[in-house]
Amino acid sequence: MALLIQNGEIVTSDQRYTADILIEGETITQIGEELDVPDGAEVIDASGQYVFPGFIDPHVHVHLPFMGTFAKDTHATASQAALIGGTTTFIEMLAPAASETLRSGWQTWTDKAHGHSACDYTFHIGVTRWDGETEQTLRELVSGGMTSFKVFLAYKDAFGIEDAALFNTLKLARELGVVVTAHCENAELVSQLQAQLLAEGKTGPEWHEPSRPEQVEADGTAHFATFLEMTGAEGYVVHLSNARALKAALDARQRGVKLHIESVIPHFLLDRTFAERPGVEGAKYVMSPPLRDRANQAALWKALKNGDIDTVATDHCPFDVEQKRMGDGNFTLIPNGIPAIEDRVNLLYTYGVCRGGLSLNRFVDAASTRAAQIFGLYPKKGAVQVGSDADLVIYDPGYRGTVSAATSHVNNDYSGFEGFEIEGRPRVVTVRGQIAVRDGEFVGDPGRGQLLRRPPRVADGANEGARRERERG
Ligand code: URP
Ligand code: ZN
Ligand code: ZN
Ligand code: ZN
Repeated sequence: MALLIQNGEIVTSDQRYTADILIEGETITQIGEELDVPDGAEVIDASGQYVFPGFIDPHVHVHLPFMGTFAKDTHATASQAALIGGTTTFIEMLAPAASETLRSGWQTWTDKAHGHSACDYTFHIGVTRWDGETEQTLRELVSGGMTSFKVFLAYKDAFGIEDAALFNTLKLARELGVVVTAHCENAELVSQLQAQLLAEGKTGPEWHEPSRPEQVEADGTAHFATFLEMTGAEGYVVHLSNARALKAALDARQRGVKLHIESVIPHFLLDRTFAERPGVEGAKYVMSPPLRDRANQAALWKALKNGDIDTVATDHCPFDVEQKRMGDGNFTLIPNGIPAIEDRVNLLYTYGVCRGGLSLNRFVDAASTRAAQIFGLYPKKGAVQVGSDADLVIYDPGYRGTVSAATSHVNNDYSGFEGFEIEGRPRVVTVRGQIAVRDGEFVGDPGRGQLLRRPPRVADGANEGARRERERG
């Protein structure tokens, strides 16, 4: 059935205009003024509302074995929460544990998602070790359309990799035209500082931030940039949290390193005092890199407004209160992560656009278009164009509400943003032409989400290997 959205104000990363949008099947087929209503079409009056391209969250954890437990969401709960909040595509990180091969990790992650996700999804392929099996599987996965990797310069003895593995991963990425995303901290410094603090009897969640201070993240960021420079690979720093790390990334960019920057919604709105609350109340706010001194937020907002920060993601990673209690008496055992998948868009709109001077175009760019461009999804995703997937968010700027765990659809028992006011929310959300959300409730098909396969970067001739690989089939 066709769907006609009338009179909405269409906002993309670079345009703002009022028009009708006709959707036939899964695709936008016409955009124009006073379009004819096809027989049997559903008509939605979007007067007084915005129409945005579906939002993209490029950093999400759903199935994650981490710190002795698993993140709480399933693909059903995470995808429906995402859609209610206007996110129509997310990129999950696939992170094989030490006990499994990359191939079996791929099987595990895709089995978890397949048939259970209501929104479209794809994966950053985690490189958690370097060996023959890993390299071969990476080549196969890239030729199958998984064209971004993830590395951890953190979490020593868990997902973290050594410099030799980093070097090999980046060389392969350069050859295949793959963007490498990286968690940037100096893992050894974190480990030493953690041991030192514990030995001094400093065991509560308030010591998490001092165990991985700003310098440690700036050092990890500079280190990653140096390796990009030596290999010519294209990189993407995830969840950048502070002004020093930002400077390290911008300095690298200045000297020609191909480096994109992501920050996540908790770092724009929450600060270290949240994690300084006593006991499990503080543990709820333990994530890495940690929530920082509030002074950093001005630098993040400024860089977001001028486009130095490319994307705003969530790093959605829900652990409930009982799981957070695993770190009672030892902050290094608190499962790291804060949920945000449902609230990212509304929070960024409220505190960025309505209250912070972020332009509507940059808001769309940072929360949708730029991720689509960097990760090979554009213009199918991240655009409102004839021929694009009909992933659309009809957004009601008149809505007023409050974030609360009580009304959240994430599978968790607390919200990191409890009590935050919201000035706007999605009224209707479509995924490839079907309505998935109306007025804050999921009304779609729970298993309709598709695994998105993406082309490699077409860069400077560095993609020869990928081309040959594809030709070999
Ligand atoms: O604390 C965090 N960020 N948890 C999720 C894993 C990661 O580092 O992204
Ligand atoms: Zn991380
Ligand atoms: Zn993460
Ligand atoms: Zn509900």
